[in-house]
Amino acid sequence: MTNGELRHFQTRESLHMLRAMKLAAILAAFLALCHTAVFAAGKSAPIPLQPDKVPALDHAQFVGAEKCATCHQQYFDGWKTTTHSKMVQRPSDKTIVADFTADSPHHPALADVKWVVGSRWKQRFLVEVNGEEVVFPGQWSVKEKKWQPYTAKSDWWWADHQDWKGRSNFQLCAGCHSTGLDLKTQKWAELNISCESCHGAGKKHSETSAIADIVNPSRLTRQRSMDVCLACHAAGKPHGEQKDYAWPVGYTPGDDLGKYWKAFAPEGKQTPEFWPGGTAHKNRVQGNTFVQSVMHDNALQCSNCHDMHNGQHTAMTVKSAATNALCLTCHGPGQAQKLAEPLLADHTHHAATSKGSICIECHMAKTGENSVAAEARNHTFNVVPPAETVKNGTTNSCNICHKEQTTEWALAKFAEWYPKKK
Ligand code: HEC
Ligand code: HEC
Ligand code: HEC
Ligand code: HEC
Ligand code: HEC
Ligand code: HEC
Ligand code: HEC
Ligand code: HEC
Repeated sequence: MTNGELRHFQTRESLHMLRAMKLAAILAAFLALCHTAVFAAGKSAPIPLQPDKVPALDHAQFVGAEKCATCHQQYFDGWKTTTHSKMVQRPSDKTIVADFTADSPHHPALADVKWVVGSRWKQRFLVEVNGEEVVFPGQWSVKEKKWQPYTAKSDWWWADHQDWKGRSNFQLCAGCHSTGLDLKTQKWAELNISCESCHGAGKKHSETSAIADIVNPSRLTRQRSMDVCLACHAAGKPHGEQKDYAWPVGYTPGDDLGKYWKAFAPEGKQTPEFWPGGTAHKNRVQGNTFVQSVMHDNALQCSNCHDMHNGQHTAMTVKSAATNALCLTCHGPGQAQKLAEPLLADHTHHAATSKGSICIECHMAKTGENSVAAEARNHTFNVVPPAETVKNGTTNSCNICHKEQTTEWALAKFAEWYPKKK
């Protein structure tokens, strides 16, 4: 990509992105003032989860996406193009990407599949055992196009749920794959990650159209707004001793997630979630890794880069990351956060047109396991230097493409190119 092309991208900002930028600039300016306040504000005491004491959720307050669509058609149509609207589906030729004709012990009989879960990285299947929906212990890897065992051994609850027939979808999964899941009735208000997962129950708003009657994350503090996403995108567990519920029971959008959820943090050693340095070791740790980033320190949040009502670009990014357009919105020439080097190739040491000049390939290297290792993108935004591989085996940002080269090779090139980087 030439510098001219970089400028070209800048002239094509969407309205959304301009708003995001203004927000980022304003927030950055206030950072010095707000930093302490943002983190100190409303740190409520954790509430240990006692399932029998959780109040019932009033499903009459939920109206469903179709109702929202009557006044917000565009948002509805956009959301329909995102994977949030397709997480849990009935089995059909259209929804199943797995190959049930393959001979494997890792899939159930097709006729036994009640629900299909996921589609982009892997597919798992819900079957019924003794009248309860449970997760079958096998999965289809989309990348490798093959069946694999699904052991759940890296999940914190594994020790207490070793028999897969006791792995209740309702207890261990559905809280993050549906909207308004109620503990008392074991029913969801709506399947999938629908409007009211992020905007809260909307009956009253649907009657009044009043802003005050609906949660708009962009009007919440940055932390509360991010909490909406972290409720599902931060690996963690409910507070307290119970071992049966794996989702933030009791949390509703706008509330302080910390009351219901203990997000895991890096421990300086290898854990299922993190490489020793804090880099993503699995999927679904976007929240846990983003909070370690310089951009998080500078008041950015998920919605600066992701649009929940637009699945046009991979992973709902507001602009394409594959062309660098997303990152250059703020880091392009002339922008407040422009790179120190005027030419892209001087920053990346690869030809501007090379894959090695795509920001996310170095800054969001696929260090995390999803259905296979090195598939999920790291959200610390740090380039993982080859020195990390030497130190503790972390997948680094160079050998992930240069697989045929040794770590030592990458180490030497890296030191030559980026002498200042410790
Ligand atoms: C009867 C029409 C109607 C229905 C149904 C409706 N809305 Fe709205 N909504 C509006 C109107 C009108 C506004 C703009 C209000 C204003 O600007 O004063 C709005 C504003 C919003 C906003 C922005 C609020 C803000 O702070 O600016 C959100 C978010 C929202 N609606 C979400 C939803 C969701 C989610 C649903 C379904 C649960 C829904 N709406 C159902 C009419 C509706
Ligand atoms: C705390 C919330 C949470 C819980 C609990 C949870 N998930 Fe998920 N799940 C997510 C999120 C968020 C993603 C997307 C994350 C990513 O791609 O990194 C996801 C992704 C997935 C995917 C991959 C989707 C795709 O398109 O490839 C599958 C399959 C899946 N989950 C199945 C399960 C099953 C089965 C359980 C229960 C044993 C479960 N999940 C429990 C939040 C959760
Ligand atoms: C996964 C979370 C999520 C889902 C699902 C979701 N939204 Fe949103 N919505 C958001 C966030 C975050 C914002 C604030 C975006 C921003 O900061 O610009 C928002 C903003 C809005 C707004 C206000 C836009 C403005 O101008 O301020 C409307 C209206 C809205 N959503 C409607 C809907 C409707 C209708 C649905 C379902 C069809 C839906 N949303 C589904 C997260 C979500
Ligand atoms: C109720 C749980 C839940 C909430 C709340 C939620 N997500 Fe998700 N998110 C998921 C699940 C589950 C998936 C996997 C969907 C699939 O693969 O079908 C996912 C997938 C995604 C993806 C990847 C989409 C793709 O196509 O690969 C992005 C990006 C994302 N979410 C961002 C967000 C952001 C940003 C927020 C907050 C505004 C948010 N999510 C709120 C559960 C949630
Ligand atoms: C909405 C604006 C915005 C977008 C979009 C954005 N950034 Fe940033 N970025 C910032 C701000 C603000 C900072 C903080 C700069 C500072 O240190 O003062 C930052 C800092 C960084 C840093 C840390 C720099 C350091 O000092 O260590 C990296 C790396 C980075 N961004 C990479 C990216 C990548 C990669 C993308 C695309 C996926 C991206 N950014 C998209 C605004 C943005
Ligand atoms: C080939 C790998 C690679 C690619 C591709 C890459 N970077 Fe970097 N970037 C680095 C390294 C390594 C550093 C640390 C440099 C140091 O500390 O001396 C860095 C530093 C940064 C910084 C902080 C310091 C600075 O120079 O301002 C920002 C911001 C940044 N990169 C953004 C981007 C953006 C935006 C893109 C895409 C346009 C990009 N990077 C592409 C490797 C890369
Ligand atoms: C500075 C921009 C930026 C921020 C902030 C950001 N993301 Fe991302 N995210 C990306 C990009 C870029 C991708 C990869 C897009 C692609 O593959 O083209 C991505 C990918 C994802 C995915 C798909 C999983 C994967 O491995 O590719 C999920 C889920 C996700 N982000 C969730 C979140 C959540 C939740 C937050 C807030 C905690 C967040 N992101 C903050 C830029 C960002
Ligand atoms: C997204 C994939 C990708 C990433 C990440 C990447 N490279 Fe490259 N690299 C390439 C490609 C493709 C070429 C071939 C020439 C070109 O397109 O520039 C290349 C060429 C090179 C070359 C010159 C040719 C050779 O093999 O001697 C060196 C040296 C190099 N890369 C080092 C690095 C280092 C060091 C890093 C980490 C900072 C890195 N690369 C990250 C894809 C990548």
